Parts: sequence; structure tokens; C-alpha cells
Amino acid sequence: MKNDELFALLRRRGVLWPSAEIYGGTQGLYDYGPLGFSLKRRLEEAWAAWFVGLSHDYHLIEPAEILPEAVVRASGHLENFTDPEVTCDSCHSAFRAETILEKVRPEGVDGLAPEQIAEIVSANHLKCPTCGSLTLSVPRPFNLMFGVDWGVTGKERAYLRPETAQGSYLSFSRMWDVGRRALPLGIAVIGKAYRNEIAPRQVLFRMRAFTQAELQVFFDPAGFAVPFDRVREDSLPVLRVERRERGEETPEMIRADDLVRSGGLPEFYVYHLVHTVRFFRDVLHYPADRIRLYEKSDKERAFYNRIQFDVEVRLDSLGGYKELGAVHYRGDYDLTRHSQGSGKDLSVHPTGREPLLPHVLEMTFGVDRNIWGLADVHLGKEGERTVWKLPSYLAPVAVGVFPLIGKEHGAYALALTDELAGWGIAAQYDDGSSIGKRYARMDEAGAPFCVTVDGETLADGPAKDSVTLRQRDSRAQERVPRSELGNRILSGLRPPRPSRA
Ligand code: GAP
Repeated sequence: MKNDELFALLRRRGVLWPSAEIYGGTQGLYDYGPLGFSLKRRLEEAWAAWFVGLSHDYHLIEPAEILPEAVVRASGHLENFTDPEVTCDSCHSAFRAETILEKVRPEGVDGLAPEQIAEIVSANHLKCPTCGSLTLSVPRPFNLMFGVDWGVTGKERAYLRPETAQGSYLSFSRMWDVGRRALPLGIAVIGKAYRNEIAPRQVLFRMRAFTQAELQVFFDPAGFAVPFDRVREDSLPVLRVERRERGEETPEMIRADDLVRSGGLPEFYVYHLVHTVRFFRDVLHYPADRIRLYEKSDKERAFYNRIQFDVEVRLDSLGGYKELGAVHYRGDYDLTRHSQGSGKDLSVHPTGREPLLPHVLEMTFGVDRNIWGLADVHLGKEGERTVWKLPSYLAPVAVGVFPLIGKEHGAYALALTDELAGWGIAAQYDDGSSIGKRYARMDEAGAPFCVTVDGETLADGPAKDSVTLRQRDSRAQERVPRSELGNRILSGLRPPRPSRA
């Protein structure tokens, strides 16, 4: 589906809509409705089950969202967290340089100096998208953080966190003290991040407030042992810098073992890259041939990274590969900077070892972008019907419960809905319009099952009363005894966890 068509469908079904819509909407902010809220919750749970499930030493925490200025100064965000902004000297509109250059340089502007960007603008006679004049300025760095007035005087400065990761660095020494005092130690955060994007657009892709799920793994730089044998034979769809420089855009499949032996990447990095790809492919069910690991060069990487592969998925609604997550090797950047900034030495002293400053491996995941990705890839037309083929454990509604005739079977169907809800199953009662229309509503909502209560159910008697169970994907229908229903539905609702055996 096209971007507009997909957004219209999601809006009509109450998955999401622009924030403050009655005032014309707020750029870069979206509200989730009942379906979107439940899908988002389940996606976050699936992420946590997978990534926090990688080790019993990985934990979720919930740090504050507002950071004192000293923190963002030390982290480098005050100085470096900028996007090049181009303004029009005629009409004074402002744009992201990347947006202006989009058609002539689709790979983006990471690593380009302001003068190089200005040269490309001039050589291609690029005009101001608002007024059409050839008066676009040399870009200037625009800081993306939202500052807030802090305290009663309003003179102190604080910032809304631009990435959830900072909370993990700030909590590292406390987590070391309350934990096993051993490395590796993983600290995960799921929550809002805020960026004053110059040009918010493409709905959930460039938002000003969005949800990240990020895992920071702190490890001993002298050795981070991982069970590499378990992933050695996996092949990854990689687009490395050398291939990109030759103009290639398609990834090549490279064995994990080869990425280490001849590709120069550390085992611990490739191990986590494999688990990240498995999550996108096996948990979120993005087709393998749509996934690409896009390596960023020295010049393009975020200022804190030593190795960076973005996880991209090809999305029809957005016309190509889009970054939905990434794996970052951040080295000792963050703990060094926060040791200096806070004056507290953040090195640790594992038993029997010299003190050391841990390094950080980060797995980052954009929750909102993946909600869009899951709609792009799994929601579509199939003949006459529109169906959202979400994995069952992500579906906002697990089962629709219908009485064939409201007056006759309604009370039974309502009691059944409550019983299923009591099992922890998201069951939704619906007695409006024809059964066909009710199926259609549930297909759009991604419900993997529908149950219909009819005359036969009541005639069966309380001991063996059966209902019709209909599967979303095959549309197959079968009679199932009520006593088996809970287990049948529940079996697909647990998100997968990585095998640690
Ligand atoms: N802690 C590392 C970090 O924040 P990032 O590449 O800036 O790295 C990580 O962001 C992820 O957050 C991205 O892969 C993307 O999925 C999501 N993300 C970043 N900016 C976003 C925005 N403006 N709107 C929605 N999602 C965004």
C-alpha cells in the first residue's frame, strides 16, 4: 500500500492518528488508539522477551526521561547531536539537508561537510520546496534536543532525553552494586525519546516523541565470551561499506563465521547481530529477502560508535529500505565521558581482577517505526478482504467472539468473552452486523481467531458445548469444544524467546 492509503486505514481503524487532531494535528506527534496501544505493548513485550532473554544478567529498568544539562554535555549530545539544517534566504523556510538532497543523493548526508552539501545543492540547482527560489543557504548544525526550563526560577537547564540509552549509563554503577558485580551486564530501557526533528514526516518514521527499546551490554574489553558456535552457520544479509562504495545496494549473504574470520568483526558483535536478525525475521516475521544490514562508514557513524550496522527493512509504503533498528559498538565512549562529567570513576573491580572500564554494545530498536513496518509488510488486500497477518503474539485482539444471533446467543458469548479474558486472552465481543462483516473487522484488526456461538452450542448442553473456531490466515473453520478453546488460543500468544541451551 502507499503511505497515504496505509495511514488512512490505520486512522480509520483507530490504530493511530495525529495528536491534537481537532487543532489540525501536531507535526511529529501521534496518538495510539486501542488497537495501536495493544499492538505497541505486545511489540515491546516481544522485544523484551527476546533481547532481555539473551542472558540472565540482562535486566529492564525505568530511568527518568529528563536529563540535567551536565549529563548531555558529558554525553556529547549538547555539542554533536545535530542535523544539518538548510534555510531559504527568500522565504526563511527551514529544511533538513537530507530532505533537500533526497532525489540526487538517496544515501543521505551523513559524513558530508556543510560546504560539500552546499556544493551539491548548487550543482543540481536545487530550489526551495516552499517558494521555488534558488536561495538555499549553506547548512548549519541544528541541535535536535528539546530543552526545558527547570526549577522554580526556570533558569536551570535540563533536556528531554534524546535516546533512552543515557539512563542505562547513568544507572550502571548502581546496577553493578545491586547486581552480581560481574560482566557482561545488560541494562535495557523501553520508553520515550524526544527529538526536535527539523522535518518530521512519513508518519511514524520521523517523530518528535517516539519509543525506543534499547539494550546496553557492558562488557570486559579484554574478552566478551559468547556461545558463537550456536550462530556460526547463520547467514546474514550484509551490505558492507566497500560494496556500497562500488554502488551496490543489494546485500550479500555472508556466514557469521566469515564475518569474523575474514570480515574483521568481533565474535561478540556478530553473535548479537545474528540474534537481532533472528528477531526481525523469526519473531516479527519480516520476510528474509526484505532485510538488510547496512554498514556505516567511519564518516557516517554516530559520534559515539566504533562499529555500526543499521537494520533496514524494505517497505513498499516508503519506497525502499528503511532503518528500523541498529547494533552499535560504542566502546568506552559513554562511561569515559560520564566518569569525566560526574567526577565518579565508573570503572569496576571484578573479583580477582584489576579495575577496568567496561565497553558497551548497544542494540537499539524503534518501536513506532516497527509498528509502521508491521503494517506495511503484514497488512494488505487479499482478494476482497483486508487482512493484517500479524504473528499471533503481536495481535492486539487475539480472538473475536460473536453470537450468531445477538438476542439468542449474546449472553452465552459475553460469558465466554469474560472467561477468555480471565485466561489473559485479549477477547473482543462483537454482535454488530452480519457474521461476514464481523470477520472482516477482525481480519483488519489482525485477530488470529474468531469464535461463533450458535444454536448448536446451546443445544450441545453445558458438558460439551462446542463453538465454531475460525482461523484468520486459512479462513478454515472447525467445531471445537468450549473446554479446549482457551488452550488452543493461548498456545500461540507467548512471544518466542532465544534458545540459551
Ligand atoms: N541509542 C542509539 C540511538 O538512539 P538512533 O539511530 O539515533 O540511535 C535508534 O536511534 C532507533 O530509534 C532508530 O533505529 C529508529 O528506529 C528510532 N528512531 C530514531 N529517530 C526516530 C524518529 N525521529 N522517529 C521515530 N523513530 C526514530
